[in-house]
Amino acid sequence: MTNARRVLLTGANRGLGHQLARLLIDRGDRVWGTAREAAPEALLALGPAGIIQFDLADEASIVAGIAQLGEQVAGVDLVINCAGADGRSFGMADQQRGPFDFDAASFDAVNRVNVTGPMVVVREVLPLLRRGVDPLVLNISSQLGSMEVAASIGRDTGYCVSKAALNMLSVKSAAALAGEGIAVVMLHPGWVSTDMGGDTAPLTPLESATAIVETIDGLSLADSGRFVRWDGTTHPW
Ligand SMILES: NC(=O)c1ccc[n+]([C@@H]2O[C@H](COP(=O)([O-])OP(=O)(O)OC[C@H]3O[C@@H](n4cnc5c(N)ncnc54)[C@H](OP(=O)(O)O)[C@@H]3O)[C@@H](O)[C@H]2O)c1
Repeated sequence: MTNARRVLLTGANRGLGHQLARLLIDRGDRVWGTAREAAPEALLALGPAGIIQFDLADEASIVAGIAQLGEQVAGVDLVINCAGADGRSFGMADQQRGPFDFDAASFDAVNRVNVTGPMVVVREVLPLLRRGVDPLVLNISSQLGSMEVAASIGRDTGYCVSKAALNMLSVKSAAALAGEGIAVVMLHPGWVSTDMGGDTAPLTPLESATAIVETIDGLSLADSGRFVRWDGTTHPW
Protein backbone atom coordinates (compact mmCIF):
# COMPACT_ATOMS: atom_id res chain seq x y z
CA MET A 1 0.00 0.00 0.00
CA THR A 2 1.45 3.33 -1.03
CA ASN A 3 0.46 6.73 0.31
CA ALA A 4 -3.04 7.97 -0.54
CA ARG A 5 -3.17 9.40 -4.04
CA ARG A 6 -5.18 12.20 -5.57
CA VAL A 7 -6.73 10.58 -8.62
CA LEU A 8 -8.62 11.80 -11.68
CA LEU A 9 -10.46 8.81 -13.19
CA THR A 10 -12.56 9.10 -16.34
CA GLY A 11 -15.59 6.91 -16.94
CA ALA A 12 -16.06 6.13 -13.27
CA ASN A 13 -19.81 5.51 -13.20
CA ARG A 14 -19.84 2.07 -14.83
CA GLY A 15 -17.75 -0.77 -16.19
CA LEU A 16 -14.05 -1.07 -15.43
CA GLY A 17 -13.80 2.57 -14.34
CA HIS A 18 -16.41 2.02 -11.66
CA GLN A 19 -14.54 -0.94 -10.17
CA LEU A 20 -11.29 1.02 -10.26
CA ALA A 21 -13.02 3.86 -8.43
CA ARG A 22 -14.35 1.43 -5.82
CA LEU A 23 -10.95 -0.16 -5.12
CA LEU A 24 -9.04 3.12 -5.05
CA ILE A 25 -11.57 4.77 -2.72
CA ASP A 26 -11.66 1.67 -0.48
CA ARG A 27 -7.91 1.85 0.01
CA GLY A 28 -8.00 5.52 0.92
CA ASP A 29 -7.20 7.33 -2.31
CA ARG A 30 -9.09 10.55 -3.07
CA VAL A 31 -10.83 9.96 -6.36
CA TRP A 32 -12.42 12.58 -8.59
CA GLY A 33 -14.49 10.52 -10.98
CA THR A 34 -15.77 11.81 -14.27
CA ALA A 35 -19.17 11.11 -15.76
CA ARG A 36 -21.30 12.55 -18.51
CA GLU A 37 -24.27 13.00 -16.23
CA ALA A 38 -24.43 15.52 -13.40
CA ALA A 39 -25.49 13.08 -10.68
CA PRO A 40 -23.98 9.66 -11.50
CA GLU A 41 -25.65 7.45 -8.91
CA ALA A 42 -23.32 4.44 -8.94
CA LEU A 43 -20.26 6.65 -8.58
CA LEU A 44 -21.80 8.85 -5.90
CA ALA A 45 -22.57 5.71 -3.88
CA LEU A 46 -18.83 5.03 -3.58
CA GLY A 47 -18.13 8.34 -1.83
CA PRO A 48 -15.70 9.97 -4.28
CA ALA A 49 -13.77 13.11 -3.39
CA GLY A 50 -15.69 14.79 -6.18
CA ILE A 51 -17.61 14.42 -9.42
CA ILE A 52 -16.28 16.06 -12.57
CA GLN A 53 -18.81 16.25 -15.35
CA PHE A 54 -17.65 16.18 -18.94
CA ASP A 55 -18.14 14.53 -22.30
CA LEU A 56 -14.91 13.46 -23.98
CA ALA A 57 -16.36 14.53 -27.31
CA ASP A 58 -16.76 18.11 -26.07
CA GLU A 59 -13.48 19.97 -25.52
CA ALA A 60 -15.09 22.92 -23.74
CA SER A 61 -16.74 20.61 -21.21
CA ILE A 62 -13.37 18.96 -20.42
CA VAL A 63 -11.69 22.35 -20.00
CA ALA A 64 -14.48 23.52 -17.69
CA GLY A 65 -14.53 20.25 -15.72
CA ILE A 66 -10.81 20.23 -15.05
CA ALA A 67 -10.90 23.92 -14.11
CA GLN A 68 -13.40 22.87 -11.43
CA LEU A 69 -11.05 20.13 -10.31
CA GLY A 70 -8.31 22.75 -9.94
CA GLU A 71 -10.53 24.65 -7.52
CA GLN A 72 -10.84 21.54 -5.35
CA VAL A 73 -7.31 20.16 -5.19
CA ALA A 74 -3.77 21.56 -5.43
CA GLY A 75 -2.24 18.64 -7.32
CA VAL A 76 -3.03 15.33 -8.98
CA ASP A 77 -0.85 12.23 -8.57
CA LEU A 78 -2.63 9.81 -10.89
CA VAL A 79 -4.76 10.29 -14.00
CA ILE A 80 -6.53 7.21 -15.38
CA ASN A 81 -8.04 7.71 -18.82
CA CYS A 82 -10.49 4.81 -18.64
CA ALA A 83 -13.60 6.06 -20.46
CA GLY A 84 -13.91 4.74 -23.98
CA ALA A 85 -16.35 3.84 -26.71
CA ASP A 86 -16.52 1.69 -29.82
CA GLY A 87 -18.55 1.86 -33.01
CA ARG A 88 -21.65 0.46 -31.31
CA SER A 89 -21.93 3.71 -29.33
CA PHE A 90 -22.42 5.51 -32.62
CA GLY A 91 -24.98 3.28 -34.30
CA MET A 92 -22.68 0.67 -35.84
CA ALA A 93 -23.93 -2.93 -35.80
CA ASP A 94 -21.82 -5.49 -33.93
CA GLN A 95 -20.82 -7.23 -37.16
CA GLN A 96 -19.70 -4.01 -38.87
CA ARG A 97 -16.04 -4.52 -38.07
CA GLY A 98 -14.25 -4.12 -41.40
CA PRO A 99 -12.16 -1.10 -42.39
CA PHE A 100 -14.76 0.05 -44.92
CA ASP A 101 -17.92 -0.59 -42.87
CA PHE A 102 -17.76 2.85 -41.28
CA ASP A 103 -19.30 6.10 -42.30
CA ALA A 104 -16.90 8.98 -41.71
CA ALA A 105 -18.90 10.53 -38.86
CA SER A 106 -18.93 7.31 -36.78
CA PHE A 107 -15.24 6.70 -37.42
CA ASP A 108 -14.43 10.25 -36.32
CA ALA A 109 -16.72 9.94 -33.29
CA VAL A 110 -14.92 6.86 -31.92
CA ASN A 111 -11.56 8.50 -32.37
CA ARG A 112 -12.79 11.72 -30.84
CA VAL A 113 -13.75 9.92 -27.63
CA ASN A 114 -10.80 7.51 -27.43
CA VAL A 115 -7.92 9.69 -28.62
CA THR A 116 -8.76 13.39 -28.83
CA GLY A 117 -10.60 13.35 -25.52
CA PRO A 118 -7.74 11.81 -23.49
CA MET A 119 -5.30 14.21 -25.20
CA VAL A 120 -7.37 17.18 -24.02
CA VAL A 121 -7.74 15.69 -20.52
CA VAL A 122 -3.99 15.34 -20.04
CA ARG A 123 -3.27 18.75 -21.59
CA GLU A 124 -5.68 20.41 -19.18
CA VAL A 125 -4.63 18.48 -16.09
CA LEU A 126 -0.89 19.00 -16.67
CA PRO A 127 -0.55 21.96 -14.26
CA LEU A 128 -2.04 19.77 -11.52
CA LEU A 129 0.11 16.76 -12.47
CA ARG A 130 3.20 18.96 -12.23
CA ARG A 131 2.29 19.50 -8.58
CA GLY A 132 1.67 15.78 -8.05
CA VAL A 133 3.73 13.22 -6.17
CA ASP A 134 5.29 10.60 -8.48
CA PRO A 135 2.77 11.66 -11.14
CA LEU A 136 1.47 8.98 -13.47
CA VAL A 137 -0.91 8.99 -16.44
CA LEU A 138 -2.42 5.58 -17.14
CA ASN A 139 -4.11 5.41 -20.52
CA ILE A 140 -6.46 2.43 -20.77
CA SER A 141 -5.67 1.08 -24.21
CA SER A 142 -6.51 -2.32 -25.65
CA GLN A 143 -4.85 -5.32 -27.20
CA LEU A 144 -6.84 -4.22 -30.24
CA GLY A 145 -4.48 -1.25 -30.54
CA SER A 146 -1.62 -3.68 -31.08
CA MET A 147 -0.53 -4.15 -34.70
CA GLU A 148 0.45 -7.73 -33.91
CA VAL A 149 -2.81 -8.69 -32.23
CA ALA A 150 -5.48 -6.72 -34.09
CA ALA A 151 -4.48 -8.07 -37.50
CA SER A 152 -6.13 -11.37 -36.56
CA ILE A 153 -8.84 -10.61 -33.96
CA GLY A 154 -10.91 -7.75 -32.93
CA ARG A 155 -13.79 -5.40 -32.74
CA ASP A 156 -14.57 -2.68 -35.22
CA THR A 157 -11.72 -1.09 -37.14
CA GLY A 158 -12.51 2.42 -35.91
CA TYR A 159 -11.98 1.20 -32.35
CA CYS A 160 -8.72 -0.61 -33.23
CA VAL A 161 -7.42 2.50 -35.01
CA SER A 162 -8.35 4.66 -32.02
CA LYS A 163 -6.47 2.48 -29.54
CA ALA A 164 -3.40 2.32 -31.80
CA ALA A 165 -3.55 6.12 -32.00
CA LEU A 166 -3.95 6.34 -28.22
CA ASN A 167 -0.77 4.28 -27.92
CA MET A 168 1.09 6.70 -30.18
CA LEU A 169 -0.29 9.66 -28.23
CA SER A 170 0.93 7.95 -25.04
CA VAL A 171 4.42 7.26 -26.42
CA LYS A 172 4.72 10.90 -27.52
CA SER A 173 3.38 12.11 -24.15
CA ALA A 174 5.82 9.88 -22.28
CA ALA A 175 8.73 11.33 -24.24
CA ALA A 176 7.52 14.89 -23.78
CA LEU A 177 6.91 14.59 -20.03
CA ALA A 178 9.77 12.35 -18.87
CA GLY A 179 11.99 15.37 -18.18
CA GLU A 180 9.36 16.68 -15.79
CA GLY A 181 9.16 13.37 -13.94
CA ILE A 182 5.65 12.55 -15.21
CA ALA A 183 5.20 8.93 -16.30
CA VAL A 184 2.77 7.85 -19.03
CA VAL A 185 1.87 4.16 -19.38
CA MET A 186 -0.58 2.33 -21.67
CA LEU A 187 -2.49 -0.63 -20.25
CA HIS A 188 -4.60 -3.37 -21.82
CA PRO A 189 -7.11 -4.35 -19.12
CA GLY A 190 -7.82 -7.83 -20.51
CA TRP A 191 -11.10 -8.94 -22.06
CA VAL A 192 -13.52 -7.83 -19.36
CA SER A 193 -17.23 -8.54 -18.86
CA THR A 194 -18.55 -4.98 -19.03
CA ASP A 195 -21.15 -3.47 -21.36
CA MET A 196 -18.34 -3.16 -23.90
CA GLY A 197 -16.72 -6.56 -23.30
CA GLY A 198 -19.93 -8.58 -23.10
CA ASP A 199 -21.02 -11.48 -20.90
CA THR A 200 -18.63 -14.10 -22.28
CA ALA A 201 -15.45 -12.21 -21.38
CA PRO A 202 -13.16 -14.24 -19.10
CA LEU A 203 -12.29 -11.48 -16.63
CA THR A 204 -14.78 -9.71 -14.35
CA PRO A 205 -14.39 -5.94 -13.91
CA LEU A 206 -13.37 -6.57 -10.29
CA GLU A 207 -10.65 -9.08 -11.28
CA SER A 208 -9.25 -6.73 -13.91
CA ALA A 209 -9.42 -3.67 -11.65
CA THR A 210 -7.76 -5.53 -8.74
CA ALA A 211 -4.82 -6.50 -10.95
CA ILE A 212 -4.59 -2.98 -12.42
CA VAL A 213 -4.41 -1.35 -8.98
CA GLU A 214 -1.59 -3.73 -8.02
CA THR A 215 0.17 -2.95 -11.29
CA ILE A 216 -0.18 0.80 -10.74
CA ASP A 217 1.54 0.44 -7.37
CA GLY A 218 4.56 -1.13 -9.08
CA LEU A 219 4.92 1.49 -11.83
CA SER A 220 7.55 4.23 -11.76
CA LEU A 221 9.07 6.76 -14.13
CA ALA A 222 11.29 3.95 -15.46
CA ASP A 223 8.13 2.34 -16.92
CA SER A 224 7.09 5.44 -18.85
CA GLY A 225 6.29 4.66 -22.49
CA ARG A 226 5.53 0.99 -21.80
CA PHE A 227 2.46 -0.88 -23.03
CA VAL A 228 1.47 -3.38 -20.34
CA ARG A 229 -1.29 -5.86 -19.58
CA TRP A 230 -3.52 -5.64 -16.52
CA ASP A 231 -1.02 -7.82 -14.61
CA GLY A 232 1.94 -5.58 -15.47
CA THR A 233 3.53 -7.87 -18.06
CA THR A 234 4.70 -6.25 -21.29
CA HIS A 235 2.17 -6.19 -24.15
CA PRO A 236 3.46 -6.51 -27.73
CA TRP A 237 3.08 -3.49 -29.98
N1 LIG B 1 -14.22 -4.46 -21.70
C1 LIG B 1 -13.17 -4.92 -22.38
O1 LIG B 1 -13.06 -6.12 -22.69
C2 LIG B 1 -12.07 -3.97 -22.77
C3 LIG B 1 -10.94 -4.52 -23.41
C4 LIG B 1 -9.90 -3.67 -23.76
C5 LIG B 1 -9.97 -2.33 -23.45
N2 LIG B 1 -11.07 -1.82 -22.83
C6 LIG B 1 -11.09 -0.38 -22.53
O2 LIG B 1 -11.36 -0.24 -21.15
C7 LIG B 1 -11.99 1.04 -20.93
C8 LIG B 1 -13.25 0.83 -20.09
O3 LIG B 1 -14.15 0.06 -20.88
P1 LIG B 1 -15.39 -0.72 -20.26
O4 LIG B 1 -15.29 -2.10 -20.72
O5 LIG B 1 -15.54 -0.41 -18.82
O6 LIG B 1 -16.57 -0.02 -21.10
P2 LIG B 1 -18.07 0.35 -20.72
O7 LIG B 1 -18.58 -0.55 -19.68
O8 LIG B 1 -18.77 0.44 -22.02
O9 LIG B 1 -17.91 1.81 -20.07
C9 LIG B 1 -17.49 2.88 -20.86
C10 LIG B 1 -17.23 4.08 -19.99
O10 LIG B 1 -16.78 5.15 -20.84
C11 LIG B 1 -17.61 6.29 -20.63
N3 LIG B 1 -17.78 7.05 -21.87
C12 LIG B 1 -18.18 6.57 -23.07
N4 LIG B 1 -18.28 7.57 -23.96
C13 LIG B 1 -17.94 8.71 -23.30
C14 LIG B 1 -17.84 10.08 -23.65
N5 LIG B 1 -18.17 10.53 -24.87
N6 LIG B 1 -17.45 10.96 -22.71
C15 LIG B 1 -17.16 10.56 -21.45
N7 LIG B 1 -17.24 9.28 -21.05
C16 LIG B 1 -17.62 8.38 -21.96
C17 LIG B 1 -18.94 5.72 -20.16
O11 LIG B 1 -19.66 6.72 -19.52
P3 LIG B 1 -21.28 6.77 -19.56
O12 LIG B 1 -21.71 5.96 -18.39
O13 LIG B 1 -21.59 8.21 -19.48
O14 LIG B 1 -21.71 6.15 -20.87
C18 LIG B 1 -18.48 4.59 -19.26
O15 LIG B 1 -18.11 5.08 -18.00
C19 LIG B 1 -12.25 1.62 -22.32
O16 LIG B 1 -11.24 2.55 -22.64
C20 LIG B 1 -12.16 0.40 -23.22
O17 LIG B 1 -11.82 0.76 -24.54
C21 LIG B 1 -12.12 -2.61 -22.48
